[in-house]
Amino acid sequence: MTFKQEIARRRTFGIISHPDAGKTTLTEKLLLFGGAIQEAGAVKNNKIKKSATSDFMEIERQRGISVATSVLAFIYKNKKINILDTPGHKDFAEDTFRTLTAVDSVIVVIDVAKGVEEQTVKLVEVCRMRKIPMLVFINKMDREGQDAFDLLDELEQKLGLSVTPLSFPIGMGYDFKGIYNIFEKNINLFSGDSKKNIEQTIAFDDVTNPELDKIIGNKAATELRENLELVWGVYPEFDKELYLKGDQQPVFFGSALNNFGVRELLDCFIQIAPTPRSKNAEERLVEANEKDMTGFVFKIHANMDPKHRDRLAFIKIVSGTFERNKPYLHVRQGKNLKFSSPNAFFAEKKEIVDISYPGDIVGLHDTGNFKIGDTLTEGEILHYKGIPSFSPEHFRYINNADPMKSKQLNKGIDQLMDEGVAQLFTLELNGRKVIGTVGALQFEVIQYRLEHEYGAKCSYENFNVYKACWVGNENRKTEEFKEFERVKQKFLAKDKRGQLVFLADSQFSLQMTQQKYPLVKLHFTSEFE
Ligand code: G4P
Repeated sequence: MTFKQEIARRRTFGIISHPDAGKTTLTEKLLLFGGAIQEAGAVKNNKIKKSATSDFMEIERQRGISVATSVLAFIYKNKKINILDTPGHKDFAEDTFRTLTAVDSVIVVIDVAKGVEEQTVKLVEVCRMRKIPMLVFINKMDREGQDAFDLLDELEQKLGLSVTPLSFPIGMGYDFKGIYNIFEKNINLFSGDSKKNIEQTIAFDDVTNPELDKIIGNKAATELRENLELVWGVYPEFDKELYLKGDQQPVFFGSALNNFGVRELLDCFIQIAPTPRSKNAEERLVEANEKDMTGFVFKIHANMDPKHRDRLAFIKIVSGTFERNKPYLHVRQGKNLKFSSPNAFFAEKKEIVDISYPGDIVGLHDTGNFKIGDTLTEGEILHYKGIPSFSPEHFRYINNADPMKSKQLNKGIDQLMDEGVAQLFTLELNGRKVIGTVGALQFEVIQYRLEHEYGAKCSYENFNVYKACWVGNENRKTEEFKEFERVKQKFLAKDKRGQLVFLADSQFSLQMTQQKYPLVKLHFTSEFE
């Protein structure tokens, strides 16, 4: 296969949802279609159900599983599908945001009864901002839920999407009879028994055909005709270009648990979903079909075995081919590195590969060279954009609880921050370290890992911060800026990259500061123009 054909057959995407909407179940069913696993139940549930309890074993288990399920790859109809796992638990939202920088498209799973939920809102917003093509799967149609049109409205209003249904349900819950596949123009009948994968597909490009009444009954047929008329009257026709630009989102209905509507989703997905997309670096736009290899680190995973402190850095290949034992430039460090055992991921296992293509994810063993966001090239100086930090939600001082181990503590903090477990802020006034996290659970993870992997002990102290705001570089020389630095010194810190950050202690003080110092530009993510 040529380089171009290899690119054309790759689809790299993430599934996002609020916990419990059915992401794991859908992933598993997709893997079954790809023949990557033999039976349902093989994909372990990569999620923490209890939140903020001190269940360290659970945290450890989670870490182990998340290595295994970080990337799930399989071949379906000669397409190489790479599913990137995104943790649903909100405490790991940063992880998910970063993973979204490595996907070329996403599938959003919505629970038909619960509709749009909190986590979905946040994740979809990030995808919308980045113009990532999105497909929506409304799951659990075998249960009573909301009316399909109400749900479509909700997707538009709460998520700001421009939807167009590519399938439409016939009945719901107890009366669920199947779906009309608008994309393929056929009907899929649901049999309650379809766990055994028995389903019937009947081609039906003309729903006025009286045969329809015989198959699904007069009442359901009339209702379906009315509904489809409404769909065609209200929603725009599916437009692949708009979808690829992130301006239109096709919607499918089904039941992942019953393996219903999943094949239709997958078949449509491989037809319309984008092949590896070009990506913006600070210097220029890089196209997937360029000859030279470029890629970036979007995730770092610590080894499960605390005795071996090596880590696995996950690289998304943006262009060219990544080859084993070939030297690549680590742009930030300005040195060449070779990798003798790059890992590729297939379903649940990883194996060493000689060559990987754009869209693929390669796992590299790392002894501390990589940070999230690092770029690898064949010599060009490139910095990939799009891995910003967001303001954490929780802040605490971190103190050394064992003075004999301060070196270990610093190293541990450094490496955990490189992995993106949390963010570190160093106060300008006194050099004290403050850790910021998305969820309270991370503080426990950090404390546990510092002790078990680095032999260091830490304690925390509350630190009241409402929001971390990154301070823009403009107007630094003005009197106004200098006064801001003087008056707000107590609230200023440097992040890990040395950027100046204002830690506002309340919404009120943030507003006052913005009013009083209009020349000081405050940003809510670490990346700004
Ligand atoms: P998540 O990864 O998004 O958190 O969701 P997951 O797939 O784990 O699904 C959450 C629950 O919803 C599971 O039930 C799962 O069996 C159920 N589920 C998924 N798809 C469907 C569907 O199409 N119809 C129905 N009725 N249920 C569905 P659970 O009881 O929490 O877990 P389990 O004991 O079944 O594993």
